[in-house]
Amino acid sequence: ESDKENYRPEYHFTPSSGWMNDPNGLFYYEGEYHLFYQYYPDSTVWGPMHWGHAVSPDLVKWEHLPIALEPDSLGYIFSGSAVVDLDNSSGFGSSERPPIVAIFTYHDAKAAGEGEIDYQTQGIAYSLNRGRTWKKYEGNPVIANTGDIDFRDPKVTRLQREDGSSYWNLTLAVKDEIQFFSSEDLIHWKKTGSFGRNIGAHGGVWECPDLIPMKTESGEDKYVLLVSINPGGPQKGSATQYFIGDYVEGKFIPDDTMIRWLDYGPDNYASVTWDNSSEINDNPIAIGWMSNWLYAQTVPTLSWRSAMTVARELSLFDVDGTYLLKSSPVNTLEDLRKESYTIYESSTLPSQAVEISASVSEGDTFRIVISNELGEQVIISKEMGLVSVDRTNAGNSDFNREFAALHSAPMSWEAEELTIFLDAHSLELFINDGELVMTSILFPSSAWKTMDFSENLKNVKLFQLQD
Ligand code: FRU
Repeated sequence: ESDKENYRPEYHFTPSSGWMNDPNGLFYYEGEYHLFYQYYPDSTVWGPMHWGHAVSPDLVKWEHLPIALEPDSLGYIFSGSAVVDLDNSSGFGSSERPPIVAIFTYHDAKAAGEGEIDYQTQGIAYSLNRGRTWKKYEGNPVIANTGDIDFRDPKVTRLQREDGSSYWNLTLAVKDEIQFFSSEDLIHWKKTGSFGRNIGAHGGVWECPDLIPMKTESGEDKYVLLVSINPGGPQKGSATQYFIGDYVEGKFIPDDTMIRWLDYGPDNYASVTWDNSSEINDNPIAIGWMSNWLYAQTVPTLSWRSAMTVARELSLFDVDGTYLLKSSPVNTLEDLRKESYTIYESSTLPSQAVEISASVSEGDTFRIVISNELGEQVIISKEMGLVSVDRTNAGNSDFNREFAALHSAPMSWEAEELTIFLDAHSLELFINDGELVMTSILFPSSAWKTMDFSENLKNVKLFQLQD
């Protein structure tokens, strides 16, 4: 294996080569989950954005497809979404052959360079062959800039009105607020409301929103609004906050003013959900970019940069009367399990791709140390109500002085069990099936070898994972 492939994950999605950031255009159709992504094929740092493309039957095994959207005279192709237009409301297909409609931000780099302010607009494109080829709409842009430098990342969702009729709803990040638009045909959009100027975290610009209709455990309708923010995340740099509330006549009404984070680790950004996946999943499914704008462009991978998180199933749960979002690893990840080992004390890791699970007994604390023969280690713990992932001495970190750090999150309720997904350069910690999540990328100088854990962890299992 050449250095060029160092840190290439075994089961997380990466571009074959070049630069990747946000997931885009997620939709499910005819047995395929589609993943598009912010892609610059010619370099391992950010540049003129394209939409890269891959498909998966199960959200775990991915097949690369040709680039879907390339920059044109209106600009680079920034982040956005795609929907299956089942009723052919756009008229781009027919009801027998529903079009897939993508909506994305055009970023006119030339105008930006000349000091203009209206260089981000929204455009659409459609596909009539399961996303294999795309035609851009001739009347682009479909949403013109209204005077803000940051005016991007449209995410469309099919919603129902009180009277049972359906419409297209669009969330757009504008500076540090979210604007809502609605449409009957995906082409003509009307602004219906805005949200966020006086609520939430505001340490940076708001990006990549997603408005998700959900149900509580007791069957009540709630809307979750994901809002990524950069910088200003809880572990510095970029992160995703969310709000829970109602959505009435194109306006979002939050239940409270609490600041909630989707993932308390440093490395999950721009998470959004799949359109049309309700055909086969009870709950919405999300995926995020497993990096952080603080250091994403300098991490020590050579021919490609960045991976996606594992896909996660979202649901609401209740802690003492407050709803929070739970992110559970999708259950198709179980198909990767090859060998399984029950372990009772310090153990050698069978490979760099493993899943670890354990239950917590006797007290609300635990400690796991994963290390290599060079003495590098990552420590995962809960102590005094704080969950931590400590990567201060976890290998290569000289590419950015913020990287080697301890990241903690408060967890006021009990940790009963935990699952860890380890891969060549990442660790994803799910406590109580995702009631608290921390995602961290790691660059050990040699592969992780050993795992030690506190005695109160029981039923400790190791699964070797393999494609
Ligand atoms: C978020 C983001 C988006 C933008 C894209 C550009 O990471 O900044 O707001 O559309 O990346 O690549």
